[in-house]
Order: sequence, then C-alpha cells, then structure tokens
Amino acid sequence: MVRPARNVRGTVRLPGDKSISHRYAMLAGIAEGASRLENYSTGADCASTLDCMRSLGVSWERKDGVDNTIEVQGRGLALAAPAGALDCGNSGSTMRMLSGIVAGQKFTSEMVGDESLSRRPMERVIRPLSAMGAQIASQEGKPPLRITGAALKAIDYKMPVASAQVKSCLLFAGLFAEGETRIEEPMRTRDHGEVALRAFGAQLDRKSSGQGSEVRIRGGQQLRGIEACIPGDLSSAAFFLCAAALFPGSALTIPNLLMNPTRARLLDLLMEMGLRISVTQLDEIHGEIAGTLQIEGGTLKGSAIAGADSAALIDEIPVLAAIAAYTEQGIEVRDAKELRVKESDRIAAVATNLRLMGAQVEEREDGLRIPGGQTLHGAELDSFGDHRIAMAFAIAGLRARGETLIRGAESAAISYPAFFQTLEEVTER
Ligand code: S3P
Repeated sequence: MVRPARNVRGTVRLPGDKSISHRYAMLAGIAEGASRLENYSTGADCASTLDCMRSLGVSWERKDGVDNTIEVQGRGLALAAPAGALDCGNSGSTMRMLSGIVAGQKFTSEMVGDESLSRRPMERVIRPLSAMGAQIASQEGKPPLRITGAALKAIDYKMPVASAQVKSCLLFAGLFAEGETRIEEPMRTRDHGEVALRAFGAQLDRKSSGQGSEVRIRGGQQLRGIEACIPGDLSSAAFFLCAAALFPGSALTIPNLLMNPTRARLLDLLMEMGLRISVTQLDEIHGEIAGTLQIEGGTLKGSAIAGADSAALIDEIPVLAAIAAYTEQGIEVRDAKELRVKESDRIAAVATNLRLMGAQVEEREDGLRIPGGQTLHGAELDSFGDHRIAMAFAIAGLRARGETLIRGAESAAISYPAFFQTLEEVTER
C-alpha cells in the first residue's frame, strides 16, 4: 500500500548492479583462480545465476556480514555436467547469457524458467549459437532449452535485435570457439560484457560504427579471477531519481552509483527534464565508473524518447512512463517494441495501471504517449508479476490522490528485495 508523499529526502545505498553481477558470476566461474565480488546484487535473478553456476560444478560462498560479498572458486573453461535442469527462475539474463557458456561445453544442459521466462523469445540466441555448432532444442523458440555443447566455430554476426544479453551470450560463446568471433550491433547497448571480459583478462577489439558498435574476440583465451566491488544498480536508482523528480523539495544522496555511459542516459534525460544532479567522487573499478550523486527536485518538463534512446533506457521506461502524467508536457515513447517481451508486456502493463489511476494514455505497438499536467488518483493495481512494474507504480502512487494498492508487489525482490523498506525510509509525508 503506497500513501501520498510530500518529499523524498535522505541517502539511498543501492545493491550492486544486476547486469554486472550476472556477468561477474558467470565469468568468475569459468576463470582460473578465486574471485571476490563485493556488493553483489541482492536480487533473486542474480541468485538464479549463482545457483546455475553451482549446478555446473562451480563452488562459491557468501561472506556473511560483509556487504553481500561472494567468493567464487573458478574452475576454468571446462564446467561439470549438471545433475538436473538449470533453473533460471525469472531471469532472461541468466538463460540467454549462460546459454553461450554451456554451448561450448562437452555435455548437454537443460535450461528452464518460470511462467514469465517460459514465454520469452530465445530464438535470438538459438540461431547464432546453432550457427556456431551447438545443438539446441526449444519449444518453438521459447524455453525450456536443451543445449548440447560442441567444439564451437567462430561466427561473424550482425544482430537483428539490439540486445546486450545476446551480445554477451555470443562473446562468451566466442571464448570457446575456434577463430575470431565478430559481433555487430545495430544500436549501441550496455557494454558490461565487454568491460567484464577485459577485467577478467580477455583481449577484445571494439569500435563504434554509426549508432551501433562492433566487437571481436578470439577463442581459447584463459580468464583469471578478480577482486571487485560492484557499483550500485542504476536501473534500481531510477525509481528514487523519478521519486525525487516528483517533488521540488526533494534532496537525495546516492553513493557509489554505476555511471557507465551506456547506462547513464537516464541522468541526462532527467536533467533535461528539470532534475538537478551533481556528481562527486568519481571512481573507476575494473573499467566500470561509479560516482556519488546529489539530487534536487525542480519542475518537471516533458520528453520524447525514441531511436537509440529507447534502447539505452529500456529498463527505465516503465518508471518514466509511470510519472509522465505529472510532468508539464507529458512523455512520448517510440521504438520500444522490445518492452512487450520483457518480464511482462510492459507497454500494456503501464497503460493498464495508468488508466486505473485515471490517466489518459495512448498505447501504441512500439510505445506510449502520456499527456502531462494530469492529476491521478490511487487505485488497485497489478504488478503483472513484474518487478519493474511493481516499483514504477509505487513511485506513481507517491503523487496520486489517496492510496494505491499494488498486488504482487513482492516481485520487486527479483531485482531489489529492500526496495519498499528503503523507499519508506526516504519518504516524508
Ligand atoms: C540486460 C539487457 C536488457 C535489459 C535487461 C538486462 C543485460 O535486455 O532489459 O534487464 O544485462 O544485458 P536485452 O538485452 O534483452 O535488451
């Protein structure tokens, strides 16, 4: 139950970034030697990745009491055949990226997921991994996947969909392949796979080409373990940044926040819209940039999100759309069809919930248009079992008239178990 707020003020310490946590856990497992990962994501998705790595013969343990630290004993590129199916839970990142690693093994792996993951498209990894030599059976392109590993051959692949998960999957598979794998993406997506591979000692060549980029990796490279502290999750910070943007008297401090340029478009966009953000204490850790943010609310102008911005903001669009009705000119989102195949159909979920709160919304195949200057009222909403929808509407509820009830709010634990507690701590009424 979310009650209206007057302000958000205080300090928010975020769990480690989800995208980086998944990649570090996978690469630590196939590296030589031990890795120590501090501030590992507390989300259930990243726990699914760790559980799958354990099933593949990787030992790891949590260091209790030390900032969600995980110690992983790498076993090198050869993993062990799992005794049962690899359960990826709700996590598309786990299934897609790990499929690139199991495709290079000498055994067969079965990958399963929950009801939501079982509806998500996997042909985007099946097609290129099959071209590299893996044998993959699926339910018409959807999970469960049965992947029989092979001696992979390098591939030269132009990705039809801009997806960082697919890019990382193929780079990981490229490590096991004979020859040099080349991947081209049509639109620049987050580069944590590339940055993490370099951190673990792999060499790769990168160049940008137009709005996209090209990466090349040679097979057979050994990785070595790292000691890292994972920066705070920027997509989780988005909920607090948007909450601050709703109230001119807000003041938040967010220490150790991920500021990787392929993820930080949200910060520019919110500043263009009227939020004041200053950054201090910039640090670089294993190629990832983190900083401390000071945030002050102001008036909120509208925005149009399209093209490369839609790819760069894909996980933040639900919360931006959820606060759009409170902005002066509203928000228009185009070129974001991918949102329909996330943990839920996020375009439909946002439109349904906004309408229940009394908003006028135009839903389109590839986006939404939400006029500004609207007053919303509390309502009974559904998370659609989707963590980002649950959290986005908790923020919308802060400025609604009356109380907002979110059914299935516990799904926030997929990426951010402490979300509601932290939100309550910084909310002034
Ligand atoms: C992610 C990439 C995005 C994003 C997801 C995490 C990643 O998915 O939505 O939450 O860590 O690479 P796509 O690669 O499918 O766009």
